[in-house]
Amino acid sequence: MSWEEDGETLRAGGMHGEGGRRPHRWPAPLPGHRSAIWYGGDYYPEQWPRSVWDEDVDLMVEAGVNIVSLGIFAWARLEPSDGVWDFAWLDDVIGRLGRAGIAVDLASATATAPLWLYEQHPEVLPRERDGTVVNAGTRQSWRPASPVFRRYALRLCRALALHYRDNPYVVAWHVGNEYGWNNAADYSDDAEEAFRVWCRKRYGSIERVNEAWGTDFWSQRLQDFAQILIPRHAGGDDAMTNPGLELDFRRFSSDCLLDFFKAERDELAAVTPDRPLTTNFMVSTDQCPLDYESWSRQVDFVSNDHYFHSGPGHLDELACSDALVCALACRQPWYLMEHSTSAVNWRSYNPPKRSGELVRDALAHVALGADGVDFFQWRQSRTGAEAFHSAMVPHAGAQTDIFRQVRQLGRLLQVLSAEGVTGSRVDRAQVAILFDAGAEWACGCRTLPDRGVDHWNQVLLWFRALLDCGVRADVVPVKGDWSSYAAVVLPGLLTVSDAQSDRLHRFVDGGGHLVVDFASGIMDEEMHVGLGGYPAALRDLTGVSGQEIVALGRQEAGGGPLQLTCGGLGGTWAVQADVRGDEVTVLARYKGTRARSLGLDGLPAITLRGCGSGSVAYLGCGLELDDLARVIGRLLPPGFFHADLQEGGTRDPRLLQVTRRGADGDFLFAFNRGDAVIAEVPLPGEAVVLYRSRALSHDSQDASKAYAMKVNGLVVTRL
Ligand code: GLA
Ligand code: GLA
Repeated sequence: MSWEEDGETLRAGGMHGEGGRRPHRWPAPLPGHRSAIWYGGDYYPEQWPRSVWDEDVDLMVEAGVNIVSLGIFAWARLEPSDGVWDFAWLDDVIGRLGRAGIAVDLASATATAPLWLYEQHPEVLPRERDGTVVNAGTRQSWRPASPVFRRYALRLCRALALHYRDNPYVVAWHVGNEYGWNNAADYSDDAEEAFRVWCRKRYGSIERVNEAWGTDFWSQRLQDFAQILIPRHAGGDDAMTNPGLELDFRRFSSDCLLDFFKAERDELAAVTPDRPLTTNFMVSTDQCPLDYESWSRQVDFVSNDHYFHSGPGHLDELACSDALVCALACRQPWYLMEHSTSAVNWRSYNPPKRSGELVRDALAHVALGADGVDFFQWRQSRTGAEAFHSAMVPHAGAQTDIFRQVRQLGRLLQVLSAEGVTGSRVDRAQVAILFDAGAEWACGCRTLPDRGVDHWNQVLLWFRALLDCGVRADVVPVKGDWSSYAAVVLPGLLTVSDAQSDRLHRFVDGGGHLVVDFASGIMDEEMHVGLGGYPAALRDLTGVSGQEIVALGRQEAGGGPLQLTCGGLGGTWAVQADVRGDEVTVLARYKGTRARSLGLDGLPAITLRGCGSGSVAYLGCGLELDDLARVIGRLLPPGFFHADLQEGGTRDPRLLQVTRRGADGDFLFAFNRGDAVIAEVPLPGEAVVLYRSRALSHDSQDASKAYAMKVNGLVVTRL
């Protein structure tokens, strides 16, 4: 197994970009077509008789669909038995689509293997943590580290690439599908062997592994790489395992799948070097299966699947997830490979989308940088595990509200394409909230003061609180490009390495404004606790030093939040901290009976340290959304929020506003993010799209025009 380093020349066609990143390449329009926002969905013709195929193509044309993803789960049809190929049916489908002007994003089809492969090679089946063999019967029932599975998968890639190398309708490769959805963690012998190779590569010597994992704790000292064990079930539900080892196993599991992806990619690219490749990530604030920062360097264009979180934060969560995807894509256009027209069917309660959310969500993804918006799936299945998952063509057929909205969305995307939105870039925000997959995994450690910290959800909390102040933030990977933002927020960033700490120091020395929360910087990237007072990695910066972490718990469990002198409550953890140095101002202290009983009464809860023209704010406890939104204005210097941060728009917490700038114009996308009608809001520019919104009569002297916006309404203007 090869573990390529960042920066190593990529094998595919000898291509290499800056810092090991592949250059951005986007699927080209079909010959004779102009570039436009891609619009379509996953299409599974193999689930339907041929008589349905022609109707499908007609309806797609009617809906403005210009692309579909094909073959994602079709391996059993493409290779019905070992080494026997059947491409005829797929040729037929691709031909019908292509002749109608519909392009194809063709899958490598490796997400699910045919049953004959599992029968012949049961050794490719993964194992659970307790050693149980995972049975075939759903998708991704394979070990990422299996050399046997890899051989079969690469043979399929090669066969597909050779067969479709000259097909003019295939514009992109869809490699795998949602890697790690079902097999991110595998506890097989293949995984263990590969993990040992990975550790050797990461640490070089077994002594370094001992140091990193602190193996003198509970006599876990290793003499040799061959003694390294993956973190299998170690008895009982609450066996306390080594956090450093657990974190490295998560890193390894992401890298192991990435290595598999790269092998598939290179097999395809060796035959079709000019066809861009992607794989659909799963960036959403309720999950973080893989380290997409590393993955994003290895695709030609970034794509993501996003499923809505119903409730009041629906649009905010979408925008927060997309902000990270946009940063992963280095602000180049990215592709929303899947979302739903309405309900999903894999939660315990699956509410439909509310009126307007089908179109609004799709256009919100466009606002945040997507130049392709697809649904899972084209036609709602009759059979199988996803029969009650919504689709573009529902069970009831085309004479339905959903299909009418699908058509309406197709028309709106055509308008935006004609106006020149395609290829434009999302404007950078002034504030960057930092995200790190490693820190998110570290928060999952079961032996922290309590299990209430979730880094990714803290990112969302800050994103929403800033929106409540009328400010849209970017979400940027810790390893990414955040140094030139005016302000940087570290939310629940439990692990901060020395190198990251140095970078943060340079940022503040250069006049940057930093905001640090209670859980950030407590440990380093090997999960060693920083000594001498929490948060060690950020102690000099914050000017605060904590003696104890006091878990506050929930009222139901006998715990509860603390009162703050600035109003509001502090929860989750309270760091029992002292201020070091005169340049630190205390903005709030703990007070009240509970604070007294915990010895925290009068201790600083929120502080601000001036540092030249920069500053560092520190929150020693967790705040709920409303309290956080109220306090944010005091964490940054006076005037910071008075600047017009909504480039081109107005600072209005009722709106989510994003500007896309491009060669053919600049566009402001404004969304009603609340649950109330907005009777009147001024927006600059000329309206290009109004959805559930209308223009009000206006004074022609005024450059801004005013609009009324319903719930889930939006306005796009050309600036
Ligand atoms: C037990 C063990 C100790 C330590 C404590 C922690 O008593 O014997 O080694 O783990 O629990 O509470
Ligand atoms: C994922 C998968 C799809 C489908 C959808 C349903 O995103 O990639 O195949 O199962 O979920 O929401």
